[in-house]
Amino acid sequence: MVPVHAACALLSFVPLLVLGVPPIWTQPEQVHLSYPGVPGSMAVTWTTFNKTESKVEYGLLGGRLFEMSAKGGTTLFVDSGEEKRELYIHRVTLTGLKPAATYVYHCGSDEGWSDVFLFTALNDSTSFSPRFALYGDLGNENPQSLARLQKETQLGMYDVILHIGDFAYDMDEDNARIGDEFMRQIQSIAAYVPYMTCPGNHEATYNFSNYRNRFSMPGQTESLWYSWNLGSAHIISISTEVYFYLEFGLDLLFKQYEWLTKDLEEANKPENRAVRPWIITMGHRPMYCSDDDQDDCTKFDSYVRLGRNDTKPPAPGLEDLFYRYGVDLELWAHEHTYERLWPVYGDKVYNGSKDQPYVNPKAPVHIITGSAGCRERTDRFNPNPKDWSAFRSTDYGYTRMQLVNATHLYLEQVSDDQYGKVIDSIWVVKDKHGFSAWF
Ligand SMILES: *[C@@H]1O[C@H](CO)[C@@H](O)[C@H](O)[C@H]1NC(C)=O
Ligand SMILES: *[C@@H]1O[C@H](CO)[C@@H](O)[C@H](O)[C@H]1NC(C)=O
Ligand SMILES: *[C@@H]1O[C@H](CO)[C@@H](O)[C@H](O)[C@H]1NC(C)=O
Ligand SMILES: *[C@@H]1O[C@H](CO)[C@@H](O)[C@H](O)[C@H]1NC(C)=O
Ligand SMILES: *[C@@H]1O[C@H](CO)[C@@H](O)[C@H](O)[C@H]1NC(C)=O
Ligand SMILES: *[C@@H]1O[C@H](CO)[C@@H](O)[C@H](O)[C@H]1NC(C)=O
Ligand SMILES: [Fe+2]
Repeated sequence: MVPVHAACALLSFVPLLVLGVPPIWTQPEQVHLSYPGVPGSMAVTWTTFNKTESKVEYGLLGGRLFEMSAKGGTTLFVDSGEEKRELYIHRVTLTGLKPAATYVYHCGSDEGWSDVFLFTALNDSTSFSPRFALYGDLGNENPQSLARLQKETQLGMYDVILHIGDFAYDMDEDNARIGDEFMRQIQSIAAYVPYMTCPGNHEATYNFSNYRNRFSMPGQTESLWYSWNLGSAHIISISTEVYFYLEFGLDLLFKQYEWLTKDLEEANKPENRAVRPWIITMGHRPMYCSDDDQDDCTKFDSYVRLGRNDTKPPAPGLEDLFYRYGVDLELWAHEHTYERLWPVYGDKVYNGSKDQPYVNPKAPVHIITGSAGCRERTDRFNPNPKDWSAFRSTDYGYTRMQLVNATHLYLEQVSDDQYGKVIDSIWVVKDKHGFSAWF
């Protein structure tokens, strides 16, 4: 028996030997930015594995390095996996930033500092023409579009990134180490431009706790739903997941709907809509799609579109609400494909005119862009799409959007499979916004 014991003892030492030097638990990592919705501000969020102070030191590009400093707070996030791993999430909001000025920063504490990054404070003018990259369904494994997005972001091609749900696949896995790894991967984008998010179905484990804890979106809903303004747009981010994970609270569905109604009401006040005529929504699961899976969007009775009547009380859907308040553009993901729709309402096409469907469209325009790349690969289309389907692609890729001015908005689809080729583009032109624009 002695040799067996010796072997066991030896084996039990191996992991210790392999681990070697202990990790630096106070080193900041997973640095990312978000826009708190207040002009002249930017939020910096990062992670450490020991409790440390939360500081950002920053200064204007070309000026004295780290001339200014700001402090914030730390929250302890205990993952619900069996290891109950502890992450300290640090949040610092920088305020009083000069619009359109570029800042150099690092974050951390006297126990450890991040690399040096830079960002440009958002221009707060309503005539600013922001450029976005947007996509959903980007994972840790097979992140096809990531390299291109990293380079383009670092080249300064985007002011903001919108990630329309489904991260990492999945953030909670391996006791949230997959979440850590994903947040490290996107640091190369998200530490340079505000990275604005909404939750998707892949975030659902443990009641979306990885999502709620790791991101810092505006408002008081733990990043689940919120709105903000940029240039001539009011941008609304929602959780479509409230229609599917009733176990986490049917009240969330009603709370969001109520908030959404108020938010749209406010955005439609003549004095508000006059300066921010575009209303753009983003949510993970679409109302319409022509993929050949059995997803909600493939069904006429989509929960997101029409609501649910198997709940008490019945839950209202989003199509009528968005139509009534004259939402111009609805951005979705979830389907691992790209699909552009003709202006659509109630399953019917309402083109602006036959030749120029997107010039003064008579219903909202929908874009589905969930093919950034993840371990689930891409989806397939159903061979017989309905009339509203205008363009479809199963290439990996992402969408670019520029909100040019009060009347013109430009969208294009980049194929990563085709080395960055633009495979689709449209101009949405609106001389008039709001419900009355439909007639
Ligand atoms: C730092 O974090 C590690 C891992 O959570 C923990 O084991 C250690 O006790 C912590 N050290 C201090 C000083 O808090
Ligand atoms: C913000 O954008 C507007 C519109 O393009 C421009 O006129 C203005 O100069 C910009 N502001 C700054 C500080 O660059
Ligand atoms: C899930 O999280 C939301 C947001 O924090 C909370 O309002 C809700 O009560 C939670 N649901 C459950 C079942 O814990
Ligand atoms: C309830 O919803 C189902 C599916 O969405 C639909 O087929 C049915 O007609 C609805 N029933 C009522 C009473 O609205
Ligand atoms: C909408 O416009 C497109 C492009 O001109 C056209 O192919 C389609 O048939 C139109 N749909 C309807 C219902 O008019
Ligand atoms: C808005 O942008 C479009 C496209 O660049 C341009 O043709 C149009 O003149 C602009 N409108 C105004 C009011 O500047
Ligand atoms: Fe999804």
